[in-house]
Amino acid sequence: IMDTNSGEQLVAQAQALLAHGRLPAKVFSDPALHQLEVERIFGRAWIFLAHETEIPAPGDYVMRHIVDDEFIVVRDDEGGVRVLFNSCRHRGMRVAQAGCGHAKTFRCPYHGWVYRNDGRLQGVPYENRIYGPGEIKKEEMGLLAAPRSESWNGMIFASLSSDGPTLTEFLGNMAFYLEFYTRKSEAGLQVVGEPQRWVVRANWKLGASNFIGDGYHTSTTHFSTVKVGVLPGSADFLIDGVQVDADSGGLGFRRMPPGTGSTRGYGPEVMARFEPAHRAILESGCFPSHGTVFPNLSFLAAAAIVDQGGAPVPYFTLRIWQPVAHDTIEIWSWMLIDKSAPEALKRASYTSYVLSFGSSGLLEQDDTENWTSITRSARGRMAGTQELSYVMGSTSLPLMTDWPGPGKAYSMDYTEAAERSFYQLWLRYLQEAT
Ligand code: FES
Ligand code: FE
Repeated sequence: IMDTNSGEQLVAQAQALLAHGRLPAKVFSDPALHQLEVERIFGRAWIFLAHETEIPAPGDYVMRHIVDDEFIVVRDDEGGVRVLFNSCRHRGMRVAQAGCGHAKTFRCPYHGWVYRNDGRLQGVPYENRIYGPGEIKKEEMGLLAAPRSESWNGMIFASLSSDGPTLTEFLGNMAFYLEFYTRKSEAGLQVVGEPQRWVVRANWKLGASNFIGDGYHTSTTHFSTVKVGVLPGSADFLIDGVQVDADSGGLGFRRMPPGTGSTRGYGPEVMARFEPAHRAILESGCFPSHGTVFPNLSFLAAAAIVDQGGAPVPYFTLRIWQPVAHDTIEIWSWMLIDKSAPEALKRASYTSYVLSFGSSGLLEQDDTENWTSITRSARGRMAGTQELSYVMGSTSLPLMTDWPGPGKAYSMDYTEAAERSFYQLWLRYLQEAT
Protein backbone atom coordinates (compact mmCIF):
# COMPACT_ATOMS: atom_id res chain seq x y z
CA ILE A 1 0.00 0.00 0.00
CA MET A 2 1.38 3.34 -1.01
CA ASP A 3 1.54 5.97 1.67
CA THR A 4 0.82 9.28 -0.08
CA ASN A 5 1.40 11.00 3.20
CA SER A 6 5.07 10.12 3.07
CA GLY A 7 5.21 11.69 -0.40
CA GLU A 8 3.73 14.95 0.90
CA GLN A 9 6.03 14.85 3.91
CA LEU A 10 9.03 14.43 1.68
CA VAL A 11 7.93 17.40 -0.43
CA ALA A 12 7.69 19.55 2.72
CA GLN A 13 11.09 18.32 3.88
CA ALA A 14 12.62 19.01 0.46
CA GLN A 15 11.25 22.54 0.51
CA ALA A 16 12.70 23.27 3.92
CA LEU A 17 16.08 21.85 2.96
CA LEU A 18 16.32 23.40 -0.50
CA ALA A 19 16.19 26.86 1.09
CA HIS A 20 19.62 25.89 2.45
CA GLY A 21 20.89 24.28 -0.74
CA ARG A 22 20.18 20.70 0.33
CA LEU A 23 17.88 17.87 -0.68
CA PRO A 24 16.81 14.71 1.16
CA ALA A 25 18.39 11.67 -0.53
CA LYS A 26 14.99 9.95 -0.39
CA VAL A 27 13.67 12.10 -3.24
CA PHE A 28 15.48 9.66 -5.53
CA SER A 29 13.88 6.52 -4.15
CA ASP A 30 10.48 7.15 -2.64
CA PRO A 31 7.56 5.41 -4.41
CA ALA A 32 4.90 7.69 -2.88
CA LEU A 33 6.77 10.80 -3.98
CA HIS A 34 7.06 9.26 -7.41
CA GLN A 35 3.29 8.88 -7.57
CA LEU A 36 2.89 12.58 -6.76
CA GLU A 37 5.38 13.45 -9.51
CA VAL A 38 3.46 11.34 -12.02
CA GLU A 39 0.23 13.17 -11.21
CA ARG A 40 1.38 16.72 -10.59
CA ILE A 41 4.37 17.01 -12.93
CA PHE A 42 3.92 14.49 -15.75
CA GLY A 43 0.15 14.99 -15.60
CA ARG A 44 0.50 18.71 -16.28
CA ALA A 45 3.80 19.87 -17.80
CA TRP A 46 4.62 19.92 -21.52
CA ILE A 47 6.39 16.65 -22.32
CA PHE A 48 8.57 16.20 -25.40
CA LEU A 49 7.36 13.35 -27.61
CA ALA A 50 8.95 13.50 -31.04
CA HIS A 51 10.59 15.59 -33.73
CA GLU A 52 8.55 16.44 -36.83
CA THR A 53 11.20 14.94 -39.12
CA GLU A 54 10.41 11.52 -37.65
CA ILE A 55 7.01 11.72 -39.37
CA PRO A 56 7.69 13.66 -42.60
CA ALA A 57 4.87 12.25 -44.80
CA PRO A 58 1.11 11.90 -44.26
CA GLY A 59 0.48 8.56 -42.52
CA ASP A 60 3.90 8.40 -40.85
CA TYR A 61 3.68 7.68 -37.15
CA VAL A 62 5.82 6.97 -34.09
CA MET A 63 4.72 5.53 -30.75
CA ARG A 64 5.50 7.66 -27.72
CA HIS A 65 4.66 7.78 -24.02
CA ILE A 66 3.94 10.04 -21.12
CA VAL A 67 4.65 7.68 -18.23
CA ASP A 68 1.98 4.95 -18.71
CA ASP A 69 -0.03 6.64 -21.45
CA GLU A 70 0.83 5.52 -24.96
CA PHE A 71 0.30 7.90 -27.88
CA ILE A 72 0.44 7.50 -31.63
CA VAL A 73 2.15 10.66 -32.89
CA VAL A 74 0.96 10.69 -36.47
CA ARG A 75 0.88 13.01 -39.46
CA ASP A 76 -2.67 12.85 -40.81
CA ASP A 77 -3.67 12.95 -44.46
CA GLU A 78 -4.04 16.75 -44.27
CA GLY A 79 -0.45 17.06 -43.01
CA GLY A 80 -1.34 17.97 -39.43
CA VAL A 81 0.31 16.35 -36.41
CA ARG A 82 -2.01 14.37 -34.15
CA VAL A 83 -1.22 12.90 -30.75
CA LEU A 84 -3.73 10.05 -30.37
CA PHE A 85 -4.23 7.85 -27.33
CA ASN A 86 -3.41 4.32 -28.49
CA SER A 87 -6.49 2.65 -27.09
CA CYS A 88 -9.57 1.46 -28.98
CA ARG A 89 -12.86 3.07 -27.98
CA HIS A 90 -14.55 -0.38 -27.95
CA ARG A 91 -12.64 -2.38 -25.35
CA GLY A 92 -9.41 -0.42 -25.06
CA MET A 93 -7.11 -2.63 -27.13
CA ARG A 94 -4.01 -0.93 -28.55
CA VAL A 95 -4.85 -0.15 -32.16
CA ALA A 96 -1.21 0.20 -33.25
CA GLN A 97 1.53 -2.17 -32.12
CA ALA A 98 4.69 -1.06 -33.91
CA GLY A 99 7.16 1.49 -32.57
CA CYS A 100 6.89 3.40 -35.83
CA GLY A 101 5.31 2.94 -39.22
CA HIS A 102 3.08 4.30 -41.93
CA ALA A 103 -0.70 3.95 -41.97
CA LYS A 104 -3.75 5.48 -43.58
CA THR A 105 -5.84 3.72 -40.98
CA PHE A 106 -5.35 1.81 -37.74
CA ARG A 107 -7.33 -1.42 -37.49
CA CYS A 108 -7.93 -2.72 -34.00
CA PRO A 109 -6.77 -6.36 -33.79
CA TYR A 110 -9.52 -7.33 -31.32
CA HIS A 111 -12.82 -6.80 -33.19
CA GLY A 112 -11.58 -4.87 -36.17
CA TRP A 113 -12.74 -1.27 -35.66
CA VAL A 114 -10.91 0.95 -38.11
CA TYR A 115 -9.70 4.47 -37.31
CA ARG A 116 -8.41 7.02 -39.80
CA ASN A 117 -4.98 8.53 -39.18
CA ASP A 118 -6.64 11.68 -37.81
CA GLY A 119 -8.31 9.53 -35.14
CA ARG A 120 -11.86 9.43 -36.56
CA LEU A 121 -13.66 6.09 -36.37
CA GLN A 122 -14.19 5.02 -39.96
CA GLY A 123 -15.51 1.48 -39.88
CA VAL A 124 -17.08 -1.07 -37.56
CA PRO A 125 -17.30 -4.67 -38.82
CA TYR A 126 -20.92 -5.90 -39.33
CA GLU A 127 -22.09 -2.46 -38.19
CA ASN A 128 -25.50 -2.59 -39.90
CA ARG A 129 -26.36 -6.10 -38.72
CA ILE A 130 -25.27 -5.84 -35.10
CA TYR A 131 -25.98 -2.24 -34.11
CA GLY A 132 -29.43 -0.73 -34.36
CA PRO A 133 -29.98 2.67 -35.96
CA GLY A 134 -28.23 5.39 -33.90
CA GLU A 135 -26.98 2.81 -31.40
CA ILE A 136 -23.32 3.49 -32.03
CA LYS A 137 -22.38 7.11 -32.65
CA LYS A 138 -19.28 6.74 -34.77
CA GLU A 139 -18.62 10.48 -34.85
CA GLU A 140 -18.22 10.41 -31.06
CA MET A 141 -16.05 7.32 -30.96
CA GLY A 142 -12.77 8.53 -32.45
CA LEU A 143 -9.49 7.83 -30.71
CA LEU A 144 -8.95 10.26 -27.85
CA ALA A 145 -6.39 12.95 -28.47
CA ALA A 146 -3.89 14.16 -25.86
CA PRO A 147 -5.61 17.10 -24.11
CA ARG A 148 -3.06 19.47 -25.67
CA SER A 149 -0.27 19.11 -28.21
CA GLU A 150 1.90 21.75 -29.87
CA SER A 151 5.02 21.97 -31.95
CA TRP A 152 7.84 24.42 -31.43
CA ASN A 153 10.52 24.61 -34.15
CA GLY A 154 9.94 21.01 -35.15
CA MET A 155 9.74 19.68 -31.60
CA ILE A 156 6.40 18.06 -30.72
CA PHE A 157 5.20 18.29 -27.12
CA ALA A 158 1.99 17.21 -25.42
CA SER A 159 0.35 17.92 -22.08
CA LEU A 160 -2.06 15.65 -20.24
CA SER A 161 -3.75 18.72 -18.81
CA SER A 162 -6.28 20.70 -20.82
CA ASP A 163 -5.34 23.94 -19.11
CA GLY A 164 -2.16 25.68 -18.09
CA PRO A 165 0.39 27.78 -19.96
CA THR A 166 0.78 27.36 -23.72
CA LEU A 167 3.98 25.66 -24.85
CA THR A 168 5.55 29.03 -25.72
CA GLU A 169 4.57 30.50 -22.36
CA PHE A 170 5.90 27.40 -20.64
CA LEU A 171 9.25 27.53 -22.46
CA GLY A 172 9.61 31.24 -21.67
CA ASN A 173 13.21 32.37 -21.93
CA MET A 174 14.29 28.81 -22.57
CA ALA A 175 13.02 29.20 -26.15
CA PHE A 176 15.72 31.80 -26.82
CA TYR A 177 18.36 29.26 -25.83
CA LEU A 178 16.87 26.30 -27.69
CA GLU A 179 17.11 28.39 -30.85
CA PHE A 180 20.88 28.04 -30.68
CA TYR A 181 20.30 24.44 -31.74
CA THR A 182 17.17 24.64 -33.88
CA ARG A 183 17.94 27.75 -35.95
CA LYS A 184 21.38 26.89 -37.25
CA SER A 185 20.28 26.37 -40.83
CA GLU A 186 17.43 27.24 -43.16
CA ALA A 187 16.61 23.54 -43.53
CA GLY A 188 16.47 22.92 -39.77
CA LEU A 189 17.30 19.84 -37.76
CA GLN A 190 16.60 16.29 -38.81
CA VAL A 191 16.52 13.14 -36.70
CA VAL A 192 19.03 10.55 -37.94
CA GLY A 193 17.88 6.94 -37.61
CA GLU A 194 15.49 6.00 -34.84
CA PRO A 195 15.84 7.04 -31.22
CA GLN A 196 17.86 4.58 -29.18
CA ARG A 197 16.12 3.46 -26.00
CA TRP A 198 17.12 1.42 -23.01
CA VAL A 199 16.15 0.89 -19.40
CA VAL A 200 18.29 2.17 -16.52
CA ARG A 201 17.67 1.56 -12.82
CA ALA A 202 17.84 5.21 -11.82
CA ASN A 203 15.48 7.99 -10.79
CA TRP A 204 14.51 10.35 -13.65
CA LYS A 205 15.56 13.53 -11.83
CA LEU A 206 19.21 12.46 -11.80
CA GLY A 207 19.50 12.68 -15.58
CA ALA A 208 17.53 15.92 -15.80
CA SER A 209 19.53 17.61 -13.07
CA ASN A 210 22.88 16.34 -14.35
CA PHE A 211 22.22 17.79 -17.79
CA ILE A 212 20.82 21.11 -16.63
CA GLY A 213 23.78 22.17 -14.58
CA ASP A 214 26.29 19.55 -13.50
CA GLY A 215 29.32 20.76 -15.43
CA TYR A 216 31.33 19.69 -12.39
CA HIS A 217 31.12 15.92 -12.93
CA THR A 218 32.92 15.85 -16.26
CA SER A 219 36.39 16.34 -14.79
CA THR A 220 36.05 13.14 -12.73
CA THR A 221 33.36 11.01 -14.38
CA HIS A 222 34.55 11.61 -17.93
CA PHE A 223 38.28 11.83 -17.24
CA SER A 224 38.79 8.32 -18.60
CA THR A 225 37.18 9.34 -21.90
CA VAL A 226 39.80 12.07 -22.26
CA LYS A 227 42.52 9.58 -21.33
CA VAL A 228 41.57 7.11 -24.04
CA GLY A 229 41.50 9.95 -26.56
CA VAL A 230 37.77 10.10 -27.36
CA LEU A 231 37.08 13.42 -25.65
CA PRO A 232 39.45 16.13 -26.91
CA GLY A 233 41.30 18.50 -24.57
CA SER A 234 40.99 18.34 -20.81
CA ALA A 235 38.09 16.96 -18.81
CA ASP A 236 37.35 20.20 -16.95
CA PHE A 237 36.34 22.03 -20.12
CA LEU A 238 33.21 23.44 -18.48
CA ILE A 239 34.76 25.11 -15.43
CA ASP A 240 35.27 28.40 -17.30
CA GLY A 241 31.90 28.16 -19.00
CA VAL A 242 28.67 29.99 -18.32
CA GLN A 243 25.59 28.54 -16.69
CA VAL A 244 22.16 29.98 -17.40
CA ASP A 245 18.92 29.51 -15.52
CA ALA A 246 16.00 30.37 -17.83
CA ASP A 247 12.39 29.80 -16.71
CA SER A 248 11.45 26.24 -17.67
CA GLY A 249 15.04 25.06 -17.96
CA GLY A 250 18.68 25.86 -18.00
CA LEU A 251 21.88 25.17 -19.84
CA GLY A 252 25.63 25.33 -19.78
CA PHE A 253 27.90 27.11 -22.26
CA ARG A 254 31.43 26.15 -23.01
CA ARG A 255 33.75 29.15 -23.32
CA MET A 256 36.50 28.83 -25.89
CA PRO A 257 39.61 30.82 -25.05
CA PRO A 258 40.07 33.77 -27.41
CA GLY A 259 42.33 33.12 -30.36
CA THR A 260 41.55 29.40 -30.77
CA GLY A 261 39.56 30.24 -33.91
CA SER A 262 37.02 27.58 -32.96
CA THR A 263 33.49 28.35 -34.12
CA ARG A 264 31.96 25.03 -33.01
CA GLY A 265 29.66 24.99 -35.98
CA TYR A 266 28.72 28.68 -35.73
CA GLY A 267 30.65 30.03 -38.73
CA PRO A 268 29.84 33.40 -40.30
CA GLU A 269 26.85 32.16 -42.39
CA VAL A 270 25.34 30.43 -39.36
CA MET A 271 26.02 33.47 -37.20
CA ALA A 272 24.13 35.68 -39.65
CA ARG A 273 20.94 33.69 -39.03
CA PHE A 274 20.78 34.78 -35.40
CA GLU A 275 19.52 37.81 -33.52
CA PRO A 276 22.03 40.29 -32.06
CA ALA A 277 21.70 38.81 -28.54
CA HIS A 278 22.50 35.31 -29.80
CA ARG A 279 25.41 36.67 -31.81
CA ALA A 280 26.82 38.61 -28.88
CA ILE A 281 26.92 35.38 -26.84
CA LEU A 282 28.65 33.44 -29.62
CA GLU A 283 31.08 36.30 -30.30
CA SER A 284 32.10 36.28 -26.64
CA GLY A 285 33.39 32.75 -27.24
CA CYS A 286 30.47 31.01 -25.47
CA PHE A 287 28.97 28.01 -27.24
CA PRO A 288 25.84 26.17 -26.05
CA SER A 289 26.62 22.73 -24.71
CA HIS A 290 24.28 20.87 -22.31
CA GLY A 291 20.87 21.61 -20.82
CA THR A 292 17.42 20.48 -19.71
CA VAL A 293 13.87 21.64 -20.27
CA PHE A 294 11.75 20.78 -17.22
CA PRO A 295 10.84 18.11 -16.46
CA ASN A 296 12.65 15.45 -18.46
CA LEU A 297 13.97 16.66 -21.81
CA SER A 298 17.72 17.12 -22.01
CA PHE A 299 20.05 18.04 -24.83
CA LEU A 300 23.74 18.18 -25.61
CA ALA A 301 25.96 19.50 -28.38
CA ALA A 302 29.45 18.08 -28.12
CA ALA A 303 32.17 16.45 -30.18
CA ALA A 304 34.23 13.27 -30.00
CA ILE A 305 37.30 11.95 -31.74
CA VAL A 306 36.17 9.10 -33.96
CA ASP A 307 39.48 8.33 -35.73
CA GLN A 308 42.64 8.41 -33.69
CA GLY A 309 44.55 11.56 -34.52
CA GLY A 310 41.54 12.99 -36.37
CA ALA A 311 39.61 16.17 -35.62
CA PRO A 312 36.70 15.97 -33.15
CA VAL A 313 33.38 15.28 -34.91
CA PRO A 314 30.38 17.24 -33.58
CA TYR A 315 27.01 15.70 -32.69
CA PHE A 316 23.74 16.87 -31.17
CA THR A 317 21.43 14.72 -29.06
CA LEU A 318 18.01 15.18 -27.52
CA ARG A 319 17.04 12.75 -24.77
CA ILE A 320 14.23 12.12 -22.36
CA TRP A 321 14.36 10.44 -18.97
CA GLN A 322 11.05 8.65 -19.12
CA PRO A 323 9.89 7.53 -15.69
CA VAL A 324 8.98 3.86 -15.44
CA ALA A 325 9.02 3.65 -11.64
CA HIS A 326 10.57 5.52 -8.72
CA ASP A 327 13.87 3.79 -9.39
CA THR A 328 13.69 3.12 -13.13
CA ILE A 329 13.77 5.16 -16.32
CA GLU A 330 13.66 4.37 -19.96
CA ILE A 331 16.14 6.64 -21.72
CA TRP A 332 15.16 7.75 -25.22
CA SER A 333 18.01 9.30 -27.13
CA TRP A 334 17.78 11.01 -30.51
CA MET A 335 20.66 12.14 -32.69
CA LEU A 336 19.94 15.18 -34.83
CA ILE A 337 21.86 17.15 -37.41
CA ASP A 338 21.17 19.97 -39.84
CA LYS A 339 19.16 18.54 -42.72
CA SER A 340 21.41 20.26 -45.24
CA ALA A 341 24.66 18.79 -43.82
CA PRO A 342 26.70 16.66 -46.25
CA GLU A 343 25.97 12.90 -46.05
CA ALA A 344 29.54 12.13 -44.97
CA LEU A 345 29.21 14.51 -42.01
CA LYS A 346 25.85 12.97 -41.07
CA ARG A 347 27.47 9.52 -40.96
CA ALA A 348 30.54 10.69 -39.05
CA SER A 349 28.37 12.64 -36.63
CA TYR A 350 26.20 9.57 -35.98
CA THR A 351 29.32 7.52 -35.23
CA SER A 352 30.55 10.23 -32.89
CA TYR A 353 27.17 10.23 -31.09
CA VAL A 354 27.02 6.42 -30.81
CA LEU A 355 30.54 6.35 -29.40
CA SER A 356 29.65 9.03 -26.81
CA PHE A 357 25.94 9.10 -25.99
CA GLY A 358 24.25 6.17 -27.71
CA SER A 359 23.07 3.38 -25.41
CA SER A 360 26.59 1.92 -25.36
CA GLY A 361 28.32 5.31 -25.48
CA LEU A 362 31.34 5.82 -23.26
CA LEU A 363 30.04 9.00 -21.64
CA GLU A 364 26.50 7.67 -21.37
CA GLN A 365 27.73 4.56 -19.55
CA ASP A 366 29.83 6.62 -17.14
CA ASP A 367 26.89 8.91 -16.34
CA THR A 368 24.32 6.18 -15.80
CA GLU A 369 26.70 4.23 -13.55
CA ASN A 370 26.59 7.21 -11.18
CA TRP A 371 22.82 7.54 -11.33
CA THR A 372 22.09 3.83 -10.75
CA SER A 373 24.44 3.82 -7.76
CA ILE A 374 22.84 6.94 -6.28
CA THR A 375 19.37 5.43 -6.70
CA ARG A 376 20.53 2.21 -5.00
CA SER A 377 22.06 4.09 -2.05
CA ALA A 378 18.88 6.15 -1.66
CA ARG A 379 16.81 2.99 -1.06
CA GLY A 380 18.12 2.11 2.38
CA ARG A 381 17.50 3.32 5.89
CA MET A 382 20.63 5.46 6.15
CA ALA A 383 19.42 7.53 3.23
CA GLY A 384 16.43 8.54 5.36
CA THR A 385 18.68 10.84 7.33
CA GLN A 386 20.97 11.91 4.52
CA GLU A 387 20.90 15.42 3.09
CA LEU A 388 22.67 15.95 -0.23
CA SER A 389 24.59 19.10 -1.08
CA TYR A 390 23.51 21.57 -3.77
CA VAL A 391 25.16 24.70 -2.33
CA MET A 392 27.88 25.26 -4.92
CA GLY A 393 28.11 28.95 -5.84
CA SER A 394 25.04 29.89 -3.80
CA THR A 395 26.82 32.63 -1.85
CA SER A 396 30.04 33.00 -3.83
CA LEU A 397 29.04 33.32 -7.48
CA PRO A 398 27.17 36.53 -8.36
CA LEU A 399 24.88 36.97 -11.35
CA MET A 400 26.61 38.20 -14.49
CA THR A 401 25.59 41.77 -15.26
CA ASP A 402 26.88 41.84 -18.83
CA TRP A 403 25.35 38.63 -20.19
CA PRO A 404 23.63 39.48 -23.48
CA GLY A 405 20.87 36.87 -23.19
CA PRO A 406 17.73 36.51 -21.03
CA GLY A 407 17.55 34.62 -17.76
CA LYS A 408 20.09 34.45 -14.94
CA ALA A 409 23.67 33.83 -16.02
CA TYR A 410 26.69 32.81 -13.97
CA SER A 411 30.29 33.11 -15.08
CA MET A 412 31.16 29.50 -14.28
CA ASP A 413 29.50 26.24 -15.29
CA TYR A 414 30.76 24.74 -12.04
CA THR A 415 27.87 26.02 -9.98
CA GLU A 416 24.67 24.35 -8.81
CA ALA A 417 22.47 27.36 -9.53
CA ALA A 418 20.51 25.78 -12.39
CA GLU A 419 20.04 22.54 -10.43
CA ARG A 420 18.65 24.49 -7.47
CA SER A 421 16.23 26.24 -9.83
CA PHE A 422 15.24 22.92 -11.35
CA TYR A 423 14.26 21.64 -7.92
CA GLN A 424 12.46 24.91 -7.09
CA LEU A 425 10.30 24.41 -10.18
CA TRP A 426 9.85 20.75 -9.25
CA LEU A 427 8.57 21.87 -5.84
CA ARG A 428 6.20 24.42 -7.40
CA TYR A 429 4.54 21.67 -9.45
CA LEU A 430 4.39 19.29 -6.50
CA GLN A 431 2.84 21.86 -4.21
CA GLU A 432 0.13 22.97 -6.62
CA ALA A 433 -2.88 20.78 -5.88
CA THR A 434 -4.45 19.14 -8.91
FE1 FES B 1 -11.02 -2.60 -30.55
FE2 FES B 1 -13.03 -4.23 -29.92
S1 FES B 1 -11.38 -3.57 -28.68
S2 FES B 1 -12.57 -3.36 -31.82
FE1 FE C 1 28.18 13.26 -18.15
